[in-house]
Amino acid sequence: MKKILVIYYSQSGQVKDIIKSVLSDAENDKNIRIDYLKIEPEEEYPFPWKPSSKFYDVFPESVKSVDCRLKALIVNNSEQYDLIILGLQVWYLSPSIPISSFLKSEEAKNILHNKPVITIYGTRNMWVSANKTVKYLIKNTGGYLVGNIVFSDKHHNLISVITIVRWLINGKKEASKIFPNAGVSFDDIKNASKFKKPVITALYNSKFDNLQTELLKLNAVNIEYHIMKTELTGKRIFNIWADLILKKSKNNPSKRKNLLKLFTYYLFFVIYVISPFASLIFRIKRLLLPRKTEKELLKNTSL
Ligand SMILES: Cc1cc2nc3c(=O)[nH]c(=O)nc-3n(C[C@H](O)[C@H](O)[C@H](O)COP(=O)(O)O)c2cc1C
Repeated sequence: MKKILVIYYSQSGQVKDIIKSVLSDAENDKNIRIDYLKIEPEEEYPFPWKPSSKFYDVFPESVKSVDCRLKALIVNNSEQYDLIILGLQVWYLSPSIPISSFLKSEEAKNILHNKPVITIYGTRNMWVSANKTVKYLIKNTGGYLVGNIVFSDKHHNLISVITIVRWLINGKKEASKIFPNAGVSFDDIKNASKFKKPVITALYNSKFDNLQTELLKLNAVNIEYHIMKTELTGKRIFNIWADLILKKSKNNPSKRKNLLKLFTYYLFFVIYVISPFASLIFRIKRLLLPRKTEKELLKNTSL
């Protein structure tokens, strides 16, 4: 019998729905056992994020990868698993705090050591920087990445900013008269079952070398150049803001509150005023330099 351990964190359950769809009827295969393990912070983050200040308050710790305390994970004999699937999401261009806290824990080392790992993301549309950190953290556990599947919101960047804030802060996921549904589309979640075949074939053959190539043929990773470049630029600026907030407001909650407010204004200014121009420049570069930009895409998105 082949055994899969799915480890995930998800506030809304979106990532779990995605993974369930990826594995689809493998659950009924009597030669496969799938166990689910949810990462749980000792103090859960609010969902929806009310008051909204809580949503912005996790910014510095997300970017600088400051751990939260997690409840102990109970895994009986982690040696028995043939494959680990990690379900995750991005907070402020970084792995969410529960995910990075888990990946840095001793428990992660025990569970992932020497195991093939597939990462499955449920994000808005900016995951490349987080993925770099996740790859590094998985390597540090002794696990090895054999696949990456990314699900994101395919609506226009400026629209999905509005719908995700509406969902995460106001709890309204469904479409309104003006805006579409927030998050990964229902169709994309349903169609995720197309990834089952390569994953299960690799699992049965205990041969994962070719898995990512097979997953890519099914569009497991879809990213537009201008989104990636906007994100990579954003991550550099996020690092500066996060350092500044953590340094300047140590033991001073009211200063932290003010700096976070300033950061929030800055964030929306950059998204709606600066990023459209930057995007345009990156789109032109993509058209003019297809080979060079393709290389950049590959370099930043490969395993
Ligand atoms: C605090 C916070 C920051 C986020 N930042 C990003 C981001 O930088 N890039 C992105 O693609 N999605 C971002 N998201 C969306 C999440 O990646 C994810 O899609 C959404 O929160 C649903 O995840 P869930 O599975 O925990 O419900 C953010 C979400 C939260 C809560």
